[in-house]
This record gives sequence, C-alpha cells and structure tokens, in this order.
Amino acid sequence: MKAVLSKSVGGPDTLVLEEVADPALKPGEVLVAVKACGVNYPDVIIIEDKYQFKPERPFSPGGEVAGVVEAVGEGASRIKVGDRVIGQAGWGGMAEKIALPEIRCIPMPDGMSFEEGAAFVMTYGTSHYALKQRADIKAGETLLVLGAAGGVGLAAVELAKAAGARVIAACSSQEKVDLCLKHGADAGVVYPHGPFDKEGRKALADLFKGACGKEGANVIYDAVGGDYAEAALRAIAWEGRFLVIGFPAGIPSIPLNLTLLKGCQIVGVFWGAFTAKDPKENAENIEELMALYAAGKIKPYVSATYPMAQAGQAIADLAERRAQGKVVVTMG
Ligand SMILES: NC(=O)c1ccc[n+]([C@@H]2O[C@H](COP(=O)([O-])OP(=O)(O)OC[C@H]3O[C@@H](n4cnc5c(N)ncnc54)[C@H](OP(=O)(O)O)[C@@H]3O)[C@@H](O)[C@H]2O)c1
Repeated sequence: MKAVLSKSVGGPDTLVLEEVADPALKPGEVLVAVKACGVNYPDVIIIEDKYQFKPERPFSPGGEVAGVVEAVGEGASRIKVGDRVIGQAGWGGMAEKIALPEIRCIPMPDGMSFEEGAAFVMTYGTSHYALKQRADIKAGETLLVLGAAGGVGLAAVELAKAAGARVIAACSSQEKVDLCLKHGADAGVVYPHGPFDKEGRKALADLFKGACGKEGANVIYDAVGGDYAEAALRAIAWEGRFLVIGFPAGIPSIPLNLTLLKGCQIVGVFWGAFTAKDPKENAENIEELMALYAAGKIKPYVSATYPMAQAGQAIADLAERRAQGKVVVTMG
C-alpha cells in the first residue's frame, strides 16, 4: 500500500509518499481501507516532534479517517467487513490502509460522505466536550470564538448556535468571518496578525471588548493562544469561562489577577484524554453529534481536498493559516 511518511523531523516538505507493507492485524483490531483522512493542527506539530505524542519514525500523520472495513481481527465482534466507519487513529491515517482497535471505530451514517466522515469526530468531539462538559454553556449566553473559521473553531460556532447561544466569531480576515456568519455566527470581528507590542495588545483587548459589548462574553473558546488569549480574557463577563483549546499562535502566560477581577474560570480542555478516561460519556457525546448531523444542525465544511501526493500541501495550509473549515486528504 502507499503511505505518506514522516522519516525525519521537519515541516510538511519533509513528507514522502512511499510503498510500504500492509499493516498486520492484531486481536481486537479491524483493517480499514482509508478513503479520506482529515487534516488537523496536531498534524502540523506531530511531524515537527512538537506534539504531546512522538511516534517512532517512519510514521504517517493523520489522526482521523473514514473508510471501509476490509478485514476483521480475532475477537472483534461489533464491526463487520464492508462497514463504512470513522476511525480515530492519533496518527497513521495518511495511508491506504490502517489497522485500528475496533473500539476506535464508529459506524458512519448513510448519506455522510467519506470526506465529511474524516472531518467530523475530532473537531465536533472537541468542541462539544468543551462547550457542554467544560463550559456548561446555556442558551442566551454569549460565546466568543477565536480562530472561528478553523476546524475546531467552526465546529464550536455551529454547536453553540445549536445550543441557543449568541456567537461572536473572531478571525484574521473578513473572508473567514463571512464563512462563520454563513455557519450561524451572529456577529464577527477581524483581528490583526501578530506579533503585537504593548500598544497592539491593548488595541486587541479593546477590539474584543467592543465586539462582546458591555457585559462581555460568558464563554470564550480559544483555539489560537499567543497574545490573543489575554486580550480576549480581558473581554470576559463576570463569572465567565475561558476555554483553553490550542496554541497555533504560541503558549500564552496569563496574569492571574484577571481571574480575580472577572470572577472567571480558566478551563483546560483535553478531548483526547476525556475520550480515554470516560469512553461512555464520550460515546453519548458522539451520539448527540450524530443526531445534530441528522437534523441538519451541524455539517462539516470541507473547503479543500488533496490527493496523497499533496498531503504536505494540505498540512502547510493549516500551518500557514490558509485553511478554512476542514482540509481532507483523499486516497485512491
Ligand atoms: N484541546 C483539545 O482537545 C484539542 C483538540 C483538537 C485540536 N486542538 C487544538 O486546537 C487548535 C486548532 O486546531 P484546528 O485543527 O482547528 O486548526 P486550524 O483548522 O488550523 O485552525 C486554527 C486557527 O488558528 C488561527 N491561527 C492563529 N495564529 C495562527 C498561526 N500562527 N498558525 C496557524 N493558525 C493560526 C487560524 O485562524 P485565524 O487566521 O483566523 O487566526 C486558524 O484558522 C490547535 O492548536 C490544535 O492542536 C485541541
């Protein structure tokens, strides 16, 4: 089979497409013929050895796949040959085949395309867990989303709207804000690219305060980090919840006096750990997401698909802030 491989530490240009042996199936695993692989920000940093997981090389990036089950290992009983599934891989998805533990696969609904299937679970799973379990967002509350046109950001916009919140989408261009408005955001704000000096940080905080209004945002979904984080926190409402999602713009340091002054909480969100520690609650979340999909309330926006030979380009789109919604690599 063909696989996109990281053989040395580096950026997307270090990836190579090579012929490798099919994966061997262990007990409890299923072999999935991959049709599409979603690209997520962790793919940008896993090949640079900057992610929390550092797989042994050579490895394929690609944390989530959609495909058809080709073989079933000893002891796997829930999934059959021929089933269309979404698989959570962590890495290894940018390959024509992947062996996955059966428990990491869920059936794909009829009518969902492979591209949508590969762009579904990580983004909506993260944002649903963040907004539901970590923020306990309520109808009528105001949510400010940073990086709102990105993968997890756009999922947060749609899910918060479905929950009855008022959503303000913050992005680095009007084109990205317009995409969020199409996906249900009530308002948008364009922030500048960094780096920021002291005055720039103050102007950024004023921008967020202006966008959120006098009362501030009850919940802030920060998928960006860097200088954007503190500036946004300054626009939080009394007793607000600030969700720490990711750091494409860098890991911020926050003056803790702000939490006292705002009576607010800074809440860490680690969806992968949640799925491992509480698989039952995660399964309930996924069921809720599938129901929202069936009702037409959420729908992955796949803005671009790339063949395997251009997988590096797909990852570069995320690294260079060009991607909108989801980018997917397709096989075959
Ligand atoms: N906590 C969790 O459990 C969890 C789960 C999944 C993903 N994540 C994290 O969430 C973050 C977003 O992931 P994603 O897959 O949604 O990525 P994505 O689609 O690339 O979205 C990230 C957004 O960040 C913004 N950004 C700001 N500065 C950037 C920079 N220097 N480089 C690239 N983007 C920058 C971009 O929007 P603008 O141009 O509009 O600023 C971009 O749309 C990542 O840090 C990822 O690791 C966390």
